[in-house]
Amino acid sequence: MQTYDILVWGASGFTGKLVAEYLYRQYGSSGDLKWALAGRNRKKLQAVRTAIGASSEDLDVLVADAADLESLRELVQQTRVVCSTVGPYAQYGTGLVQACAEAGVDYCDLTGEVHWMRQMIEQHASAASASGARIVHTCGFDSIPSDMGVLFVQQTMFERHGVYAKQVKYRAKDFKGGFSGGTVASMLNMMDEAENDPTINEIMQHPYALNPSDDNGGLDGPDRKDAFYDEDFSAWAAPFMMAGINTRVVRRTQALMDHPYGHEFRYDEATLMKDGPIGAVSAVALSLATSTMMSANAFGPARRLIARMLPSPGEGPDQAERENGYFKIAVLAKHPTDASKNILAHVDGDKDPGYGSTAKMLAESAICLAKDGLNTQGGFWTPASAMGSALLRRLNDNAGVKFTVAT
Ligand SMILES: NC(=O)c1ccc[n+]([C@@H]2O[C@H](COP(=O)([O-])OP(=O)(O)OC[C@H]3O[C@@H](n4cnc5c(N)ncnc54)[C@H](OP(=O)(O)O)[C@@H]3O)[C@@H](O)[C@H]2O)c1
Repeated sequence: MQTYDILVWGASGFTGKLVAEYLYRQYGSSGDLKWALAGRNRKKLQAVRTAIGASSEDLDVLVADAADLESLRELVQQTRVVCSTVGPYAQYGTGLVQACAEAGVDYCDLTGEVHWMRQMIEQHASAASASGARIVHTCGFDSIPSDMGVLFVQQTMFERHGVYAKQVKYRAKDFKGGFSGGTVASMLNMMDEAENDPTINEIMQHPYALNPSDDNGGLDGPDRKDAFYDEDFSAWAAPFMMAGINTRVVRRTQALMDHPYGHEFRYDEATLMKDGPIGAVSAVALSLATSTMMSANAFGPARRLIARMLPSPGEGPDQAERENGYFKIAVLAKHPTDASKNILAHVDGDKDPGYGSTAKMLAESAICLAKDGLNTQGGFWTPASAMGSALLRRLNDNAGVKFTVAT
């Protein structure tokens, strides 16, 4: 029997605790939303419950283990949606996706592990279609601002001009925040796996890696690694570290929605710098730093050395860093024939991107799946293709992620 709307799986982890804190603060435990904490360690989960100000009368604690499929099957039967923060997902996430896909239970997570998502789609899409489970990866900073930003700017273009843009550009203008140990562990695990299996690197480099295999071509090429001048923004630009994930998600959305923006649609992401010589120098510096970091990370011993300087699992930016953090993104939709009709949108977050804002985006995605009566069938979706305007409203109204039209 489905006792709960949502289970927060991994509530003892750094991000899981933030999701639980947000749900308890915003929705409490005695209202319309029935939810509980879940993970592998009862004592830790009970401590999280106390830390967020709840008691055993408010919130249940459920225990299972990511390595024990039967325990996951029992767990997921009790809920409509599982909201998972247990990562690295390629290490700990496969059984849970399988259990949800088989049981018809909706699922959302924070993975940015493209090769793992590809595997999950290949292995469990038919089970999810048959059972009705809606599986939605990438419901955090990767890739909600990108995927929902494109949806928003294209909706605006269509409302104003009756056409869709054939090209959308995402430009990260400014952001402040840090990394958690779980994110570091996920990046390291992905590089370790790629070192042992060259096909993983091929998947990660493929611009349409998440598209259905019979629809995985288009005009977009590999992610840019250089500094370049962007005439549309009159400013210099450099690579954006999340582009390798976000662009794949946006392109999958296009394919799942049957190409509403046309087969010639192009999408790219970059970090925006200033105009003039200072902008040029900082764009070159960022692109060199990104390439150096990628090369060092590709080499096992250097990767492990770098990892020692970064947070361990369970650690991450403190409350002040999260509260003082933010992100500001510009999303430009280019009108197909008339540049004076281009639409510039902003996506702004009121907390640090990776944790304060991510926890709210994930929690609202889970509630959207549980409560918003979406007309979405079972299968592997993206945030925009699964939840569309319903999620846009929730992000704007509740999550401090504002989508606005600048011009
Ligand atoms: N896309 C984004 O924007 C974004 C943002 C933030 C985080 N993330 C991703 O979210 C994931 C979590 O990050 P984090 O920093 O919160 O990690 P974390 O603090 O290390 O937490 C990991 C969680 O996984 C649990 N876990 C580990 N092994 C398990 C097992 N065998 N069975 C059940 N639970 C198990 C841990 O339980 P214990 O407490 O019992 O050890 C803990 O609750 C990472 O993959 C990270 O990359 C993505």
